[in-house]
Amino acid sequence: MAGSYVVALAALLLPMIECMTPKQMISAPRYSGAVANPSGEWALYSTSAYSFDDHESTVIWYLMNITSGEITKVPFGDDVSEVVWVGDSDTSILYTSSKSSVKSGISLWTADLADPSAKGTKVANLAAPYSGLKAVRTASGDINFLLNCLAYENGTAYNEDLAEVPYTTGRLYDSIYVRHWDLYLTQQRYAVFSGTLTGSGSSYDFNGEVTNLLEGIEAPVTRPETPVQPYGGNGDYDISPDGSTVVFLTKAPELPKANSTASYLYLVPHDGSSVPAQLNGPGSAAPASAQGASGAPLFSPDGKSIAYFQQDGVSYESDRSKMYVADIASGGITPIAENWDSSAATIKWSRDCNDLYVASDYLASTRLFIVPADAGADFKPTNITDVTSVSDYYVLPGGDALVTANAVWSPFNVYTLTPTGDASYLYNANEENAEFAGLGPDDVDFMWYEGTLGDQQQAIVVYPTDFDPSQVYDFIFYVHGGPQGYTGNVWSSRWNLKTWADQGYVLVGPNPTGSTSYGQNLTDRIQGRWGSWPYEDLVNAYNHACDNLPYINCSNAVAAGASYGGYMMNWLQGHDLGREFKALVSHDGVTTTFADYGSEELWQVKFIQHDMNGTIWDNREAYRLWDPLRHAKNFATPQFVVHNDLDYRLPVSEGIAMFNALQELGVPSRFLNFPDEGHWVDSWSQAVVTFNALLTLLLAGFEPGEQSLLAPGNL
Ligand SMILES: *[C@@H]1O[C@H](CO)[C@@H](O)[C@H](O)[C@H]1NC(C)=O
Ligand SMILES: *[C@@H]1O[C@H](CO)[C@@H](O)[C@H](O)[C@H]1NC(C)=O
Ligand SMILES: *[C@@H]1O[C@H](CO)[C@@H](O)[C@H](O)[C@H]1NC(C)=O
Ligand SMILES: *[C@@H]1O[C@H](CO)[C@@H](O)[C@H](O)[C@H]1NC(C)=O
Ligand SMILES: *[C@@H]1O[C@H](CO)[C@@H](O)[C@H](O)[C@H]1NC(C)=O
Ligand SMILES: *[C@@H]1O[C@H](CO)[C@@H](O)[C@H](O)[C@H]1NC(C)=O
Ligand SMILES: *[C@@H]1O[C@H](CO)[C@@H](O)[C@H](O)[C@H]1NC(C)=O
Repeated sequence: MAGSYVVALAALLLPMIECMTPKQMISAPRYSGAVANPSGEWALYSTSAYSFDDHESTVIWYLMNITSGEITKVPFGDDVSEVVWVGDSDTSILYTSSKSSVKSGISLWTADLADPSAKGTKVANLAAPYSGLKAVRTASGDINFLLNCLAYENGTAYNEDLAEVPYTTGRLYDSIYVRHWDLYLTQQRYAVFSGTLTGSGSSYDFNGEVTNLLEGIEAPVTRPETPVQPYGGNGDYDISPDGSTVVFLTKAPELPKANSTASYLYLVPHDGSSVPAQLNGPGSAAPASAQGASGAPLFSPDGKSIAYFQQDGVSYESDRSKMYVADIASGGITPIAENWDSSAATIKWSRDCNDLYVASDYLASTRLFIVPADAGADFKPTNITDVTSVSDYYVLPGGDALVTANAVWSPFNVYTLTPTGDASYLYNANEENAEFAGLGPDDVDFMWYEGTLGDQQQAIVVYPTDFDPSQVYDFIFYVHGGPQGYTGNVWSSRWNLKTWADQGYVLVGPNPTGSTSYGQNLTDRIQGRWGSWPYEDLVNAYNHACDNLPYINCSNAVAAGASYGGYMMNWLQGHDLGREFKALVSHDGVTTTFADYGSEELWQVKFIQHDMNGTIWDNREAYRLWDPLRHAKNFATPQFVVHNDLDYRLPVSEGIAMFNALQELGVPSRFLNFPDEGHWVDSWSQAVVTFNALLTLLLAGFEPGEQSLLAPGNL
């Protein structure tokens, strides 16, 4: 490897950290997945780390030898944003760079990582902020690529910095779906664009033309949009191995976007020479029951089939994602392991096309399963990964997988995995990076308790560094959002469980009714019961922890949660369990269910029309029953309320209403607001403020703590 140098790894010499502070956690590197090259010899990944000194983040790219685990830095500049392995050799790459002659445009470059220090070659300029690169090399030696970008209604890519500024700020809407997460909807929609780099050996030409592949879909109600916003990426589309065909995902064109989850796959020639043809959905060979959201479309290596998932329910985002294989030639669609009580999150093909490597949530982490590509309805896959959580994976030529995983104790573990589940670790950040030194599997335990219906439910228990079970620790009772989600063995750079524990607490995070990864029954039975079964489960979890964990001090406990977890804090405030805590922390939660129609997605994702089992006019009683504000007379526990202005999911008035009620009732309370954050606090410097504020305010002392970081709110 000419010109490269080996990154010094002094794992054994690292000092044990005392504990992880919010600032340390937030400024520590954040990792991308390790992406294997075609021959399975190399993996490429990047880290970005935020500096509190210059308030900037730095991106570094690394190349890993998959056999030895040896790592070298790739001397890319700060401009390199996305890299794919493609070209005339196994080490050829194509990458996007923010270097551009046009403001907010991008450029495409080729290089060969056989010599990482060699200069890349610029092959294309694109005059808009495209991202989501995918590419293959065709038989003729061309590179056919895909990118996505916002587009005008006429299909042309949109560059905000080049667009005309209108003379009015008014926005006019004639249908539901005015805003989404933290944005108001505009006329522009995301679209997939294709282009070709004409190749001769390792050099390429570009004629400057890209084609919007979404053009031509008849859309009586909902305009096509790929990736599906706001979290879709290049996993919402794929290009066939020969480069001729593209599959993409878009919401159902005949249904309203804000109250239906339905989305379908379309096939279109890469050159856009014919209009997209619908692959699944109404009128296709898919089962009539499959009406909901589709996802994760991926061509088989022989180009003959597409694996994907689809949910049945058309108005329920948390329905089970069932796997299908579509045969492209015949249009036939076959359900795979139909009765498996688990949701597919991502699907990848083995190189011989015989197996699907499926990532699915199981017992509070994402695991890998191998499912034959023709598995019958009753095939029961078994997990081949451990209790850590898979974030990315690639099937290598021989059938092993390259897996990137994380856990409460590590943000980045890379290993190869045989089909029978034998792992060979190449990199564990907690063993090799000073920032995470001292963290390990002993930081976490799992506790089972009895749910209100008599079933066994699981909670994660997170210990502080140097935990001593003969000591007694203050106690954090953590309730997850969703409600269809889980508290699991996952690294987070927001509410990082280990960072909480490291301030001297034991944290218990139960998975009550509504939680995912324990089968669809537990998830689904929250419908119509937001405040009953989940609450009763939490009472059981709390009692079980207090009765069985001698090292927690239940007289010095706080409860915290965000989103549905914030709802549950507001619900606890009006109910007996709320009295057990020294303080409650609610972050962007629901205060009154009667305000739910101020949200943006009404289907509703995880609440309203699905979870309340009807509209507010037809099933008003459910909304009344589960309204936290109805129990305001009981509010008595000090509470810290965090709610942000750009939260259009649960608007800021929800947090203000809670705070106003607490204040008028004379309950010690504080309100933290960020005008420029949404449902989550995303910016790095502000995340640390929230975290510090949470930690210093936790035990109801409401001491000033890091107040200096905050603008004074009032007198
Ligand atoms: C990767 O590491 C292995 C084991 O040390 C070595 O044999 C191999 O040559 C390395 N691969 C390359 C392409 O350098
Ligand atoms: C599409 O619309 C935009 C904005 O009005 C305009 O600038 C652009 O030239 C149009 N493109 C085509 C191909 O008409
Ligand atoms: C969704 O909203 C449309 C109007 O935008 C309405 O006609 C339709 O009945 C609604 N569907 C559901 C399931 O509520
Ligand atoms: C599957 O997961 C369980 C823990 O949830 C673990 O004990 C078991 O070892 C895993 N299976 C394999 C083959 O790794
Ligand atoms: C769901 O689980 C509960 C508790 O174990 C059980 O009582 C109920 O029958 C289950 N429902 C279904 C549809 O399996
Ligand atoms: C939801 O409503 C339907 C009819 O309106 C009813 O049959 C069903 O039992 C309800 N489900 C729950 C969980 O309350
Ligand atoms: C438990 O918490 C209570 C209330 O703060 C405190 O008085 C007591 O000393 C704590 N117990 C232990 C063993 O630390």
